Amino acid sequence: MNNWYREDLAYIQDVGFSNYTLKSAPGILAILERDRIREGLIVELGCGSGLLAEVLTSKEYRVLGIDISESLIEIAQTRVPEAEFQARSLFSAEIPPCSAVISVGECFNYLFDAENNAVRLMELFQHIYNALMPGGLLIFDIVEPGQMDSGTEQRFTEGKDWVVLVDKVEAGDILTRRIITFRKVGEFYRRSEEVHRQQLYRAAELAGELERIGFQVEVMGNYGEFALPKARVALIAKKPSDSQS
Ligand SMILES: C[S@@+](CC[C@H](N)C(=O)[O-])C[C@H]1O[C@@H](n2cnc3c(N)ncnc32)[C@H](O)[C@@H]1O
Repeated sequence: MNNWYREDLAYIQDVGFSNYTLKSAPGILAILERDRIREGLIVELGCGSGLLAEVLTSKEYRVLGIDISESLIEIAQTRVPEAEFQARSLFSAEIPPCSAVISVGECFNYLFDAENNAVRLMELFQHIYNALMPGGLLIFDIVEPGQMDSGTEQRFTEGKDWVVLVDKVEAGDILTRRIITFRKVGEFYRRSEEVHRQQLYRAAELAGELERIGFQVEVMGNYGEFALPKARVALIAKKPSDSQS
């Protein structure tokens, strides 16, 4: 069985952890506006439950959302019926010609797809560069090493009908999160467990690779007014307007 955002964690991610995305959205819209991207297709990689897709389609954009979690894609499709969604790995997805590619919430760090590694990520950046129209944008954020002072952390978060317990360990540029959920289904609470591993990247190194491909890159600690949490960095990579399409 796949170990990534199955039914209960997908539900909890959607109802309990929407803040990061919803607070990022105004800043992302402002970046698109600044670069005069006011319409056209936006490809959202790791679109989760469609929170950002809903914001984008409420403007003039069309959205293609891609996520490896079938449960999250199911929620996204219900939330934003006018958008197109695909349940598949972003590393093997076909990226059609588009105005922007957006990936919010450290999606490139996840090691769900065994094919994910630094080389595949560079290939993805090249693939995105080729798909973007001249002047198009790649907007994404990553998690770097150093999120926790001690290298480990345990936390719980609760909602009306769920509790999630997370045990985090960072070692050798790999962050491992063991996630236990309890979700009320009928009279009882159902227990599920997932283990998520993330490869930690350094923004400065990724920026160098993006520039080598031809992007103009900005590295930021915020999306507009929203300051990203510790060790999270946003990269805004622009395909030059005078480049070949
Ligand atoms: C922290 S969540 C963010 C979700 C969404 N972008 C949001 O802001 O609500 C990370 C997302 O990346 C997705 N993801 C991780 N690895 C992926 C891969 N190889 N292909 C597609 N999606 C992936 C996960 O399924 C999850 O939905």
